[in-house]
Amino acid sequence: MEKFIVIGGKRLKGSVRASGAKNAILPILAASLLTKGVSVIHEVPALLDVQVMKEVLKYLGARIKCDGSIVTVDGSKVSSLEISEDLMRKMRASNLVMGPLLGRFGKVKAAYPGGCAIGSRPMDLHLKGFAAMGASITEKHGYIIAETDSLTGTELHLDFPSVGATENLMMAATQAKGQTIIRNAAKEPELVDLQNFLNSLGARVRGAGTDLIKIEGPTELGSADHTVIPDRVEAGTYMIAAAVTGGDVIIQNVIPEHVEAVIAKLREAGARVEVAEDNIRVTGPSRLKSVDLKTLPYPGFPTDMQAQMMVLMTVAQGTGVVSEAVFENRYKHVDELRRMGADIKIEGRVAIVKGIPQLSGTFVEVTDLRAGAALVLAGLIAEDATVIENVWHIDRGYEHLERKLSLLGARIMRVNGI
Ligand code: UD1
Repeated sequence: MEKFIVIGGKRLKGSVRASGAKNAILPILAASLLTKGVSVIHEVPALLDVQVMKEVLKYLGARIKCDGSIVTVDGSKVSSLEISEDLMRKMRASNLVMGPLLGRFGKVKAAYPGGCAIGSRPMDLHLKGFAAMGASITEKHGYIIAETDSLTGTELHLDFPSVGATENLMMAATQAKGQTIIRNAAKEPELVDLQNFLNSLGARVRGAGTDLIKIEGPTELGSADHTVIPDRVEAGTYMIAAAVTGGDVIIQNVIPEHVEAVIAKLREAGARVEVAEDNIRVTGPSRLKSVDLKTLPYPGFPTDMQAQMMVLMTVAQGTGVVSEAVFENRYKHVDELRRMGADIKIEGRVAIVKGIPQLSGTFVEVTDLRAGAALVLAGLIAEDATVIENVWHIDRGYEHLERKLSLLGARIMRVNGI
């Protein structure tokens, strides 16, 4: 098992580039199953989750070629409609192939997905939507089977603006007869990227980025050439790294509008944030002030940045309150941060964080992707060494994290075993 050893105390300086967005490339790869054509996708990050999605696609019969960060998917030979338990459990986002397979072939059989240990993550909204479009849903022996002779466009109203459900339904609807309307849709930027990809294949989708998406179907889909948007969570993580180490870092390849909630919180905490067209410079003071925050669907503060922002609060002046409104159990990092000396109390979905002057390095264990990023940030500011175990969780969503941080002056090493 690989670990990171981080020696804290260095101010980060320099420039770092965000990679393509994990949460955009995963649905886009899934969407490439909708077509017999060829999808050429640029800016694909080298992530464990992307590797898993490529395995899923290959297993289903797609042919994949990789050339650096360019991935080509040929969907002409896709034939399998069943996703094994093994692949599904490796990554929750594997469930995103359900909409495309159901849309293209009228049938899909998939095991219940796995993924981060951040609370129960049901699929009821995805399945209710498929059923409203005319699919029959059966659940047996841990598998979900959705099938239909043909999908029919309809009006859907999501109980919660689920990102995955909006994506799955949008993809399936490109092959449904007539118009599909998704109300209370997720508004995340990754939905806009998926819409752009689908439209370049030949679909007719509009409204992504708002809470009302309209899809006209069915359309014949062909080939596409698409560049994935930058990863706003990765960019936000480097922004916090700069602020919390009292550093001075320019983050390149960012769409500033996508990280507005993080910019606002960092400014409130006393960091200087200068925004240019596609880069952001963050300068941290010697000590930040604490902030309160509540996670919400986009454009609210992202749940995927909650753990990292909590690290900032552990060493800020004053007390801050975090309220996690998207996931029910997303405080797995708290026990590990406490081991490093943090003063955090949890009451239900609320965490009260009292700032202390400094964290202290020790052995900690990563439980999920963003918790992992948070522990690395904590290591960067802790006294002495922090040994971070189970870093494969971090590799799911951060491309070369330790290399990028080292280039900014951080002392971080990946080691095997010991
Ligand atoms: C996506 C992101 C993840 C992010 C999350 C919220 C990807 C690959 N992952 O995950 O990084 O943290 O959005 O921004 O894009 N829910 C239901 N029923 C459903 C579906 C969801 O109750 O059928 C609930 C979930 O349990 C959770 C909430 O809705 O509490 C948000 O989930 P959702 O937006 O679906 O997240 P994901 O698409 O899984």
